[in-house]
Amino acid sequence: MIDLDRVRSQLADHKIYWHQTIGSTMTEASRLAAAGCESGTVVGADEQTAGQGRYGRAWHSEPGAGLYVSIILRYPFPPDALPVVTLALGLATGEAIFKACDVPSDLRWPNDVLFQSKKCAGILTQLEGSAIIAGIGINVNHAAFPEELSAIATSLRIASGQVHSRERLLVELISSVTSFCSLLEREGREPILEMFSRASSFVFGRRVYVDQGDTMLQGTTAGLNPSGFLMLRGDDGKQSVIIAGGVRPCS
Ligand code: BTN
Repeated sequence: MIDLDRVRSQLADHKIYWHQTIGSTMTEASRLAAAGCESGTVVGADEQTAGQGRYGRAWHSEPGAGLYVSIILRYPFPPDALPVVTLALGLATGEAIFKACDVPSDLRWPNDVLFQSKKCAGILTQLEGSAIIAGIGINVNHAAFPEELSAIATSLRIASGQVHSRERLLVELISSVTSFCSLLEREGREPILEMFSRASSFVFGRRVYVDQGDTMLQGTTAGLNPSGFLMLRGDDGKQSVIIAGGVRPCS
């Protein structure tokens, strides 16, 4: 179990609900948001039995090894800012991982956090009325992954050879999420787009394919558009805007 007193003493402005075991923190966060909870409320768990990933996938949530949290965010962002909020959450997660664990990460559009091309954190963003639910899963102290994930997943422990404090990482994560959302509110989208473009090796000049379920696109990445979507130059020279889909390197 996480040392909640330690976390609460450092995040005095945030209401934190912690569960030993839960289905998914997303469901509980949506319920609290619908009931009108404050912005910055955090729902976390030591274990999720039905952790949700993007595109209806499951999120592997080994008990006591990871950080599994959903944060309720209430900011006056217009609905079309959601893609940039998603980028901001990726930046915040990467920053927190670096500050707390000294592990440098890459960002794969829209917001997968990678270490040496394997995923160490994932982010799921949902709306509940006007509230944004930011679901963040970080693989912290996993010593290994099930066979079906071991080629694509890593943990901060595997990356650094050290066990890390989930409390310290949680405090940094909530602080970083708050500060990136405040930056977006104060200064608009441009700083987030610029920072994401600098932090991610996927934004410019990367040969990728994009899995959109029924279609597979291939091309070279060509930056972000002002909405935060990824631009892809196809081999026929035509540019397309990637709104959703799994981006994977060609080699
Ligand atoms: C992804 O597929 O990359 C997104 C993964 C998001 C996982 C987190 S863990 C905390 C929160 N609760 C969930 O059920 N999912 C998110």
